[in-house]
Amino acid sequence: MRVVLTGASGQLGAYLLETLVVAGFDVRAWSGHTQGSRDGVVFRAVDLTDADATALALAADEPDVVLHAAALSAAEAVRREPERARMVNVEATARFAQWCTERDRRIIFTSTDLVFDGSRPWWTEADAAAPLLEYGRTKRDAERAVLATPRGLVARISLLFGASRCGRPAFFDRAVAAFRAKEPQHFFADEYRTPLDYATAGDVLARLVESDAVGLLHVAGRERMSRYELMRRIAIALRLDEGTVLANRRDDVPMAEPRPADVSLDTSRLARRFPDLRRPTIEEALGSGRVTSP
Ligand SMILES: NC(=O)c1ccc[n+]([C@@H]2O[C@H](COP(=O)([O-])OP(=O)(O)OC[C@H]3O[C@@H](n4cnc5c(N)ncnc54)[C@H](OP(=O)(O)O)[C@@H]3O)[C@@H](O)[C@H]2O)c1
Repeated sequence: MRVVLTGASGQLGAYLLETLVVAGFDVRAWSGHTQGSRDGVVFRAVDLTDADATALALAADEPDVVLHAAALSAAEAVRREPERARMVNVEATARFAQWCTERDRRIIFTSTDLVFDGSRPWWTEADAAAPLLEYGRTKRDAERAVLATPRGLVARISLLFGASRCGRPAFFDRAVAAFRAKEPQHFFADEYRTPLDYATAGDVLARLVESDAVGLLHVAGRERMSRYELMRRIAIALRLDEGTVLANRRDDVPMAEPRPADVSLDTSRLARRFPDLRRPTIEEALGSGRVTSP
């Protein structure tokens, strides 16, 4: 089965690429700007805002499945560049959805828990998306295009954690480096997610590539926790000084956009789909060595 993985050069993409290669898929790894190769696969750089370049690359690779993980993924970048964000996050996704519809191919789109307004815990697939952030609005609009395709699946992913494998440090790497340097860091004690490690997210998405699941599916960890609790447990699991992990509240920090307070995801549908799926705790994930630096 041939899979085009967009965003292969990103944080999630790096984990996904390895998982798909090990699982034996014929993977075509698309990047935006990144050149070179990873896991024995050479990146094809395709600017997804360029419709002609995208069409040519799709014609060359002829995928059975498009696993679409490319995005302008930082909420702050989306807020600053909303037009570019629409082009990357919404219009490019709609083009993939149309291509897949016309050829009866499968598309899996990586969306986000930030499509919810955060006014209560444990959101299900039946709940209405009402994003507060522009980032969430672009993902919600992209979801609609994917859900309109007969073989489209939207995987709504929670906050992911683990060491960066793509060469660019992310929040986890920066926080762990600060804990090691004994530099105190503040995290919100009143913002809730259901975090999942990158490796397990990669396992789930690889299984979804082969499945016939369509529609909406929440992909997240089993435990609801604040960012503060997540980072404290990470520091303890890595035997770092938990005293450097400090709690603050959302009201303590001026924010350019309102952020949803609780986007914990109900994952009953995922558990029913894959009854044998093991989702490790924070401690188990970090202890496994799958999401820590070698
Ligand atoms: N990480 C999380 O916690 C999390 C949680 C929920 C959902 N998600 C979703 O998961 C997906 C991956 O997130 P991530 O954290 O891995 O993002 P990331 O590290 O920011 O990576 C973004 C990827 O998109 C590519 N890209 C950006 N603009 C592009 C363009 N114009 N044309 C082609 N490619 C472009 C980048 O390519 P280059 O770098 O090569 O330019 C990179 O490979 C996104 O859809 C995100 O919304 C992530």
